Amino acid sequence: MRWNYQKDIDYSQINKESVKDNKFLFYLVTIASFIEITSDEYAKNLSQYYNDNKEAVNWLQNKWEKEEIQHGESLKKYVQTVWSDFDWQKAYELFLKDYIPLCKSENFQPTKAKEMLARMIVETGTSTFYRALEAYAKEVNEPVLAKIAYNIYKDEVDHYSYFDRYFKLYNENEKNKRGDIVKVIYSRLKEVDNEDAYLAFNAICKTKKGKECEKKDYEEFKKTINEFAKKYYPYNMSIKMLLHPLSLNKTVEKAMVPTIRGAIKILGL
Ligand SMILES: [Fe+2]
Ligand SMILES: [Fe+2]
Repeated sequence: MRWNYQKDIDYSQINKESVKDNKFLFYLVTIASFIEITSDEYAKNLSQYYNDNKEAVNWLQNKWEKEEIQHGESLKKYVQTVWSDFDWQKAYELFLKDYIPLCKSENFQPTKAKEMLARMIVETGTSTFYRALEAYAKEVNEPVLAKIAYNIYKDEVDHYSYFDRYFKLYNENEKNKRGDIVKVIYSRLKEVDNEDAYLAFNAICKTKKGKECEKKDYEEFKKTINEFAKKYYPYNMSIKMLLHPLSLNKTVEKAMVPTIRGAIKILGL
């Protein structure tokens, strides 16, 4: 692994004053920690799906899974350091109860190349998210979170290129056309607003307030996410990563940018 959160991140240097009352950041980082730390479920299912490919399984289990879990651990420690009165473990257990049934391989794409492509879209989402989080952390003057986010961002881009490599490998046989590729990208993008974040948000609410969260609280949180995205989300990076599997020539790619930008706005990203 290129970094180790226990050695390379000095949590004692956190500028707590600048973040401790930031409710939005608390929810954002806690939700991310829950989803990342549960990556072993996906690693298990993906390893089964690709069991014909020893190299891919080895990478998934010995690199991808370990790095994703480190993302979760580093964020968990951040939450526990800044918001120490929050019972992370209790909230996480509530989250797991609802989340585990969703991590099923039945939700995978129907073919191996297409699932690799779907994973590229997920890594596009995570790498751009952490890029945005890094920019946000810098702006609120919290260098430790900025450093964690930067490290995670680098890993996620690396994951993207591995999935890209395997996508190309499987697609040599499958020969999916651009139309098929667009369909997978689109369907995966639509799932971005899926239940994961809501389940995590609700588990946090229940732990903090002892009751289910109200719809309006979650709507409010989503509104703040949109403002966050408008300001910090690296749209151009995201568009480039989304268009890459289509292997378009540069002129066509350039012409596509406004369409994709419009599409991801419509999808509320
Ligand atoms: Fe991650
Ligand atoms: Fe990743």
